[in-house]
Amino acid sequence: MALNMKQNAGLSRKAARSVSSRAPVVVRAVAAPVAPAAEAEAKKAYGVFRLSYDTQNEDASLTRNWKKTVKVAVTGASGNIANHLLFMLASGEVYGKDQPIELQLLGSERSKEALEGVAMELEDSLYPLLREVSIGTDPYEVFGDADWALMIGAKPRGPGMERADLLQQNGEIFQVQGRALNESASRNCKVLVVGNPCNTNALIAMENAPNIPRKNFHALTRLDENRAKCQLALKSGKFYTSVSRMAIWGNHSTTQVPDFVNARIGGLPATDVIRDMKWCREEFVPKVALRGGALIKKWGRSSAASTAVSVADAIRSLVTPTAPGDCFSTGVISDGNPYGVREGLIFSFPCRSKGDGDYEICDNFIVDEWLRGKIRASEDELQKEKECVSHLIGMMGGSCSLRGAEDTTVPGEN
Ligand code: LMR
Repeated sequence: MALNMKQNAGLSRKAARSVSSRAPVVVRAVAAPVAPAAEAEAKKAYGVFRLSYDTQNEDASLTRNWKKTVKVAVTGASGNIANHLLFMLASGEVYGKDQPIELQLLGSERSKEALEGVAMELEDSLYPLLREVSIGTDPYEVFGDADWALMIGAKPRGPGMERADLLQQNGEIFQVQGRALNESASRNCKVLVVGNPCNTNALIAMENAPNIPRKNFHALTRLDENRAKCQLALKSGKFYTSVSRMAIWGNHSTTQVPDFVNARIGGLPATDVIRDMKWCREEFVPKVALRGGALIKKWGRSSAASTAVSVADAIRSLVTPTAPGDCFSTGVISDGNPYGVREGLIFSFPCRSKGDGDYEICDNFIVDEWLRGKIRASEDELQKEKECVSHLIGMMGGSCSLRGAEDTTVPGEN
């Protein structure tokens, strides 16, 4: 359905009023496909869907050395996570202070008003680097030429739903959005899936977007890495910046493997600093893996601010070089990985980047017997998830064995 044109006009007028303001934001309402006659009528009524601001008066010394504008699509754009993330993106603290940005925001019919509110708040925040905001409900339109797609939007799990139901429900969303990325986004679009179950959702999007390199799809496990660093810092009494090589392996579920074996504190093996293997195995690992659920119990909803921070960290990890010897965690395609994890899964590995948006899986992590067993369990779970969504990824013969299985969904909902 098309956006309510009256609301679009309202936004446009607001945008027009701020032509002379410091922030040269362009608010562009992207309408979902409509019949040609209706489209012509809409264009006649409102002239344009894209307003070009007069940036002539801009201080050239400010913009002269800026890079080419990066286009970032965000789904679930009126939700809690996006409400933190969008302002970090627009401020330049994620992509850099010389990186102008265009935000392309996807919402649902239900959230259209809220989406307009988000666009208005962005506009009012006067971020010089924010060059354009577009909003819409059609992923084919909103993903147009996107260099990055941050896929936050997903339905939360409802009462009585099993993990298999959640996989089905959100899987369908990611199938549609994967196809839209395939058709509309930049051919080198980097895709970061946040909506849960994020590994398998990323797999579904990837399998439905064959025009985009498989390597470009990520599932967010940086949140788990940050949680793990925090716990090691608290236990050791050192500041979190001294924790390095903090890998998360596997699925963003309770089978995830926070790797204390390879972690370092102040350059020393974390196990030498903490000297308490029982704590590492029996307290640290479950505490990190169950943190999302513990937060839901406190808040009554999932983590939002820390998730947004970890999305920002995940992006920064790809656009800035990794410090020598360090790593970051991200869920990526397991094809060709050096640890013998089954191919064709979106699996979290320790990775490093040259800062060019690309990454490689670190190949020098020690996988001891304990770690191997835990990694295998998470791998098996991801394979089962994949089989549950086989019909969404064109895979023959999968059958879902997760019904009635132990619940490993991160959140503590229902
Ligand atoms: C978390 O780890 O906090 C989230 O993934 C929980 C959720 O499902 O929203």
